[in-house]
Amino acid sequence: MKPILFSLFESDAKKNALANALSADVGKIEIRNFPDQESYLRFESDVADRDIIFYDTLSNVNKKIIPLLFSARIAKSLGAKRVGLCAPYLAYMRQDKIFHPGEGINARYFAEIISAHFDWLVTVDPHLHRIHNLNAIYTIPTCVLHATLPMSQWITENINNAVLIGPDAESVQWVSEIATQCNAPYLILTKKRFSDRHVEVSIPAMEKYTDHTPVLIDDIISSGETMIAAILKLKKLNTHAPVCVAVHGVFDPSASEKIVQAGAKKIITCDTINQNEKEFIQIEAILAHGIKKQIA
Ligand code: R5P
Repeated sequence: MKPILFSLFESDAKKNALANALSADVGKIEIRNFPDQESYLRFESDVADRDIIFYDTLSNVNKKIIPLLFSARIAKSLGAKRVGLCAPYLAYMRQDKIFHPGEGINARYFAEIISAHFDWLVTVDPHLHRIHNLNAIYTIPTCVLHATLPMSQWITENINNAVLIGPDAESVQWVSEIATQCNAPYLILTKKRFSDRHVEVSIPAMEKYTDHTPVLIDDIISSGETMIAAILKLKKLNTHAPVCVAVHGVFDPSASEKIVQAGAKKIITCDTINQNEKEFIQIEAILAHGIKKQIA
């Protein structure tokens, strides 16, 4: 029997495109809130004995997580064979250590919750920094997909004479790979984060690259402060206006605007989070590839 794909929060276009790429049926589920804001969920499609794929990215996660966990439980109670989650953006991964007394390792607690409700997880470039492998915190099979290839393709097709810049030590993992694929030089900066919205980065060694277009590459843009700190340093060196490329555009409400005001020529992210941007780097084919391996 074909797998069946449900989505509680993605657009019909995205849901249908991924279902097509997977040759899966698109399932129907009713979701609404009671007046007291508790969730109501009802499967309209038969899920008995079927492989279920939930396709929902985990930005804005606190709003989405209860309906998703309940849906997974309900699907199992209705006899679903396996219930998997395709979450292109995986939340809570940056809370991967106790930074201050009294905190917890929320990346781990979140992994425990997801592992208790789903049978597998597919995601794209999760923030693996102090936790090196999802298997260290998830007890279900996980598949980590990488957006480096489509990002390199986009850079090759759109930027002449690029020099790639990673804003912090952990960005070396994807920046070096993209640089090889684009045949472009790269630099890695060092970053200090003083608070959620106060970030400083080192001055890039740009002497050799004055004719190049700086391409700032990060896994996540959230407040935008990391990109802004790097842009301001580049500005002092009179480089060409930089292009900002990231896997996940989490974007605080004013982040894009502030990045452009700081001096970015363009911002582009992968299609892992649905915002209002018109242009994305598509990753649907990669998602389909990862999901197929889970349901084979
Ligand atoms: C953190 O280590 C990540 O790799 C990103 O650099 C960070 O999440 C970006 O966040 P923001 O846009 O808030 O500076």
